[in-house]
Formats: sequence, structure tokens, C-alpha cells
Amino acid sequence: MYAPSLAGRVLRLLLESTGPRSGQEMAGKLGVSRAAVGKAVTSLREQGLRVEARPRLGYQLQEEPPDPLPVRLEARLRPGSLGLPLYHYAELDSTNLEARRQAEAGAVHGACFVAESQTAGRGRLGRAWLAPPGSSLLFSLLLRPGWPLKRVFLLNNVISLAVCRAVENLTGLCPLVKWPNDVFLRGGKLAGVLTEFMGRSEMAEHVVVGVGLNVNQDEDYLASLESPAASLFSATGQLWDRGLVLAAVLAQATTLWLQLAEGREDRVLAEYQERSMILGREITVKDGDELRKGRVEGFTPEGNMLLVTERGTLTISHGDVTLAKHDLEKII
Ligand code: BTN
Repeated sequence: MYAPSLAGRVLRLLLESTGPRSGQEMAGKLGVSRAAVGKAVTSLREQGLRVEARPRLGYQLQEEPPDPLPVRLEARLRPGSLGLPLYHYAELDSTNLEARRQAEAGAVHGACFVAESQTAGRGRLGRAWLAPPGSSLLFSLLLRPGWPLKRVFLLNNVISLAVCRAVENLTGLCPLVKWPNDVFLRGGKLAGVLTEFMGRSEMAEHVVVGVGLNVNQDEDYLASLESPAASLFSATGQLWDRGLVLAAVLAQATTLWLQLAEGREDRVLAEYQERSMILGREITVKDGDELRKGRVEGFTPEGNMLLVTERGTLTISHGDVTLAKHDLEKII
């Protein structure tokens, strides 16, 4: 299993403590020398964290930059969590592409690739995903689930739910999921998920689940986008620490992932239905040139949608969903 850096472990101890913590005590706890703790503190400072050294008392954490730095995630996520190891980049073409490249080079299950900006951010159906540098969370999780290909779209549901749970815990607001891969807050799109995979003979070799989560974009920026969008800032009026938001999403993704591993996909599905923006509603699904109208009856363990139409109940695996106008107004 991936082992966190010493700086991450020292930061965890500093976060656990309300007052200063002695270098000697931390060294004993971590089974390293006092000098090694000193070096770890230097590394934290070099990464922009403010750690005060108080004579005879020890080290105290004063401030952290609000960015999704690997060391901050290492300090907050349990060993073995999804999201570790975490790789942080100033700029990438696309975190999904990087995750795929790294998967092919042998990166481990659970690794996470996060970028401050993307030059070729990808959305579903060949669309672009845009966000001003440093404003949002752009990340991709690499998973090696050992699942049949037809099951991997369930990961869209899992990650959308993880975003909902994290946002609800942090803000008290209740986002909704819009099948197949969107999270909505107060009538605007808060996050989108793009799941891509490589497989051989019906089994998924690796799956990349990419998430774009709007965090600190302001109203003017959101209004310039083609479709209604929301950010945590626009919904709450406050700026959010993107490192803490990412930690919250990854912690929830891990909990949901463990539920799946225990065979409790019924629970995951039940929560997905509870949080669904479209369950029981009249919708139109556009898949290429094909338009289907009907009422959403539910979702399957493979991540498909069940749509009751004039021609019977259809199982829909992809497409773009539009709600009837009167339903959309009720939700907003
Ligand atoms: C959608 O709603 O169309 C899905 C958008 C997914 C965007 C994210 S941003 C991070 C990751 N890297 C990408 O290139 N795309 C996904």
C-alpha cells in the first residue's frame, strides 16, 4: 500500500493538536529522528504552510494555503483511501488524459490527479470543460475495480453521490444528481463527471473517473457559460478551501466504494434514487439523433436509467436528459 510522506504524517499530528507540539514527541510517535521531523517541517513551510516554532514548546500550525496539495490530503485521508497517492499539477491538458497515461505506466488503484488548470479539459459527448485556473476542483481518480465493463458506469453514480454528500456536510445545502453524471445545486450545474475506461475481453482494466467541481467561480463567470451553472461560492456567498472540499469528496467516495466492495450496492442505489433530480419525472433523453420521452422509473445496478415510455419500459445507458419546464421550475 502507498505510504504517506513524513511531512504528511507530521501535518496530521499538528492538525490533531490545539497547541504547540514538541519535535521530540512527534519523532517518538512517528518512529523517526527529531532531525527528520525538523526536515518535514521545512518541507511543509516550502509548500506554503505556516508552521511556527516556539522555543521549548514545539511546533504549531498557523495557516495552510487553501489548495489541494498532496501533503494536505495525506494528512486528512485515512491510509488506503481513494485519492492517495495524489499528484498535483499547475497545468495539464486534461486530468483524465494524465490519469490514463499514468494508468498505462502502472499507477496504482486509488491514485488521484488534480490540476489547477486544464488546456484541453474534456466534458461528455466531446464537449470542452472550462474553468479559470485555481477556481475549481479538476481531478481524476484512477480505479482498477476488476469489474465487467457494463458495470463501470455505476462509478458515475458513486462519484456524483460522493460530491453530494461532501457538499451537504460542508455547506448544509442539498445538491441533487441528474443522471447520468451531473450534480445540480439550486438549479445550476455544480459538477460534472466523466468516466472513461480501458478494457480487455469484457473486463475493465482501469477506469478513470474525472470530476469538475465548481468551487469559487463568481456569478459573472458562471453567467458567461452556455448552461445554468452554480459554484459553492455562488450558492453560499463564501470562498471555500479547495483542499478541504477535495478531502471531503474523496473521503465520501471511499466510504461508498467500501459499501460496493461489501456487496451493498442496493444502499448506494437507494441513496442515488433519493438524491435524484429526475426520478418520477417526465423527461426527454437525447442520444445522437434519437429522442425518447417518458417517466423515469429508477436506475439499475449497472448505472442505467429505466424510462417508462409509450412503447414500454426502456433501459437507457447514455444520453442527455432534459426535464419538462414545469418540473424544472418546481425543483429550482
Ligand atoms: C460533463 O459534465 O460533461 C463532465 C465534465 C467532466 C470534467 C472533468 S474536469 C477533470 C476531468 N478532466 C477532464 O478533462 N474532464 C474531467
